Parts: sequence; structure tokens; C-alpha cells
Amino acid sequence: MFKILKKKIKNKSAKIGVIGLGYVGLPLAYEFSRAKFNVIGIDVNTQKIENIKKNKSYIERLSNKEIAKLNKLNFKITNEYKAVKELDIIILCLPTPINKDKSPNMKYIKDSISGISKYLNKGQLICLESTTYPGTSEELIGQKLIKKGFNIGDDFFLIYSPEREDPGNKKFKLSNTPKIVSGFSNNCKILGNEIYKNVSNSVHLVENLKIAEMSKIFENIYRSINISLVNELKLVCNKMGIDVFEVIKAAKTKPFGYSAFYPGPGLGGHCIPIDPFLFSWKARKYGIETKFIELSGLVNSKMPSFIYQNLKKHIKKTNKNKSDIKILLLGASYKKNISDTRETPFIKIAEKVYKNKIKFDYHDPYVKEININQRLKLKSIKLDYKKIKIYDVIILITDHDNYKYDKLFNNAKHIIDTRGRFKTNNNVVSRS
Ligand SMILES: NC(=O)c1ccc[n+]([C@@H]2O[C@H](COP(=O)([O-])OP(=O)(O)OC[C@H]3O[C@@H](n4cnc5c(N)ncnc54)[C@H](O)[C@@H]3O)[C@@H](O)[C@H]2O)c1
Repeated sequence: MFKILKKKIKNKSAKIGVIGLGYVGLPLAYEFSRAKFNVIGIDVNTQKIENIKKNKSYIERLSNKEIAKLNKLNFKITNEYKAVKELDIIILCLPTPINKDKSPNMKYIKDSISGISKYLNKGQLICLESTTYPGTSEELIGQKLIKKGFNIGDDFFLIYSPEREDPGNKKFKLSNTPKIVSGFSNNCKILGNEIYKNVSNSVHLVENLKIAEMSKIFENIYRSINISLVNELKLVCNKMGIDVFEVIKAAKTKPFGYSAFYPGPGLGGHCIPIDPFLFSWKARKYGIETKFIELSGLVNSKMPSFIYQNLKKHIKKTNKNKSDIKILLLGASYKKNISDTRETPFIKIAEKVYKNKIKFDYHDPYVKEININQRLKLKSIKLDYKKIKIYDVIILITDHDNYKYDKLFNNAKHIIDTRGRFKTNNNVVSRS
């Protein structure tokens, strides 16, 4: 069966199914279709299916034109698991969030595995791409396969290959980012390599599934901890009157031993604020407390409050009554040049401003509307640079590249810059 599947991959007759067509799954389905494989996309969200059928993209990575192209390739889409019957390769790109108590919520993986279980056949391969704690592939998928009577590595194959998608990054995408792959057995690894070399210039095979799972989660823990470190340094530098962004610029000139991370208004997105806790949970099962992870989560989660404190300071300086103050929040997505608002610090800052009865508008070229915890629905204003003097303070939360920063600077009364877009040796800008 190994030889048959390998041959099918080589001659591109293998049928690939991508389950979960979100930020990760849809571009992957697109790349495999472009690589001339037959691809079936499976998602429970019928709205997404309708959009794709109408050539409408819902992620920045792919344009409407590219979705139209996808629909012209060997691509089909469905919300029914029975399509799994005809597949050779099943790739899971499902959410792996955390619960309120920060334990992993593996519901999406478990639901899809039990949904597809009866359609699995000998000779197929399953790959998990979701970010998760080490052990997931074997515990949640491998054990089910074994229970079903498959002999993994012989008549069924299991691999893990983490997605390294960086939304908004125009330089690095799937094709030019090395793809880490591992498998349950050597045969699984060989098949993993055969599959992914069709969509990535470089496949990096690692010894076992846990190393592959751990490598992805380590990348995100590394980011979270370094961002929290620089966020903490920023708070001290602000008090000391040192421009932390100039400090980073200087440190960055060292050609070895230093990687630049930047402070901001707090973490956002579906990865950095969440993934480290998937690992902490697993570490506790081994009796180990991951203090770095907990501490970085704490520091990062406090950033919106610090920004709000800074806002209060500037409001005080205006000598106006709070009821006469109006502010503008710029940028609602969690990072620049994209529309993703998952876990965005904008919501936490807007909530504080709203709760404290300060009048405010917001603008984001990518986010036309946003709900603040279901209670408040906000609409982005039209940004007229000549009229921004009406705002007593502007908080730059997300530094989209298409903002006209010189016009902002020339027309604003005061800007609280959370991203280091402006120089600070003037009366207009303060860092936060
Ligand atoms: N977004 C990123 O930039 C990024 C980067 C690297 C890794 N990841 C990881 O990849 C995984 C997927 O993330 P994402 O951002 O693509 O999530 P997403 O929410 O954008 O997409 C997940 C999709 O799965 C679908 N889905 C949910 N349950 C399903 C089920 N039972 N059957 C079929 N479809 C189902 C949803 O409708 C959705 O379309 C997560 O583990 C995430 O941490 C994400």
C-alpha cells in the first residue's frame, strides 16, 4: 500500500482532501490544486462554501481572482464528510483554541475525526497541520486509527506538518518557507516528503511526530516570550525617556546573537496569545510549571491597560472635561495590512474607552465593522486627514502601511504611538 500511494503522489493521481478551509486550509488547497492534484475542500461553514463557489475570497492571502482560478482547477468543495471515501490524502487544518481555563480545546479535531472515521479506508494518509501540543497526532488520531484496526505505516499513514503561515507577509509564503514534516513511521515520513515537496521548495524531515509538533509550538512560545520581554522593556524605557524603538534599531546592527522583536499594544491573532498555553497544559501533565510562558502571557495581556493609562494622562493634560473629549482609535486588526481581528488588542482598548464613557471613533481600512463583545457594534469612519484635529488624542493601534503618516503627524493634536511609527522628539507624539 505504501508503494501504491507513493506512486499515486508521484504521478499526481492522488486525491487530496483539505478539511477546514480557513487561513491555513484554503491557501493549502489552492497550492495543491495549482500543483495539479485533484483537491476536495471540506468545511462545516456553509457560508464559506457559498463564498468560494461565488469566487469570493474571505482571506487576504488569496484574491477573488485566485479563488476563481481555484474553481477552474481540479477543485471541488463540500460540507459532507462522505467525500473522504474517495480521498488518498486527508489534511486537517482545524482550529485548536484554548478554553477559558487555558486548557486545549481539541473539539474541532475530535469532531472531524469522529465524523470522517467511517469513511476511512486502507491505503489512505492523514496529516494534521493544526498547531498543537506534542503528542496530539498519536493520541487523538493514531490511537483511533489503531482501534479501527489499521496498521499505521503499513496499511494507513499518519503524518504531522505544521503550517507556518504569516498573514500579511508578502515575502514568505508556503512555497518559500521550509516545511517541517514528520510521520508515525519511516514510510509515513517518506510519503510526507513526497506530498509536501509539491508545494514547498524545501521539506525538512524530522525524526518523529512529537518533534514536529513541538517545533511549531516552540516557534510561537519564542515569539510570545520575546515580545513580552520587549513590551516590558518599553514600559521602563518610556519612564526613563529612552526611545525603545531606537534601542532596537541599534541592537539590530549586531550581526549575531540578536533577533529583533517589537513592542506593541498587546498580542493578537489565533497563534501567539493561545498556542503557548497548549504547551503549558501538557507540561503540567509532566509536573512542570512553564513559568516563562505564564509570565509572558501576563505581561502581554497587560499592555492594553498601560495604553489606556497613558490615554488618561493625556486627557488630563488637555484640561478639558472628560465629556468634551473625543478620541480616534487607528487600526482594529491584530497586525498590519490584514483584516483579522481575532484576539485583537483593539477590542480591549476600545472596551476600556467605552466603559469609561470617553467618546471615540475608529478607523481601519481593512475592518469596516467590529463588535465589541457582542454589546457594541462599531463602524469604521471615513478618514479625512484634514479633519483629524477634532480628536484630542489619536491612538495608533495597528500601523497599516497605507496610512499617510506625515499627514497624521501634521494634522493631529496628539498621537499615542504603540508601534514606533513616529519619531518622539516633538510635542505631538508620545510612545505607549
Ligand atoms: N491563521 C494563521 O495564521 C495560522 C498560522 C499557522 C498555524 N495556524 C494553525 O492552523 C490551524 C487552523 O487555523 P486557521 O487560522 O486556518 O483557522 P480558521 O478558523 O481560519 O479555519 C478553520 C476552518 O475549519 C473549519 N472547521 C471547524 N470545524 C470543522 C469540522 N469539524 N469539520 C470541517 N471543518 C471545520 C472552520 O469552519 C474554518 O473554516 C490552527 O491550529 C492554527 O493555530 C494558523
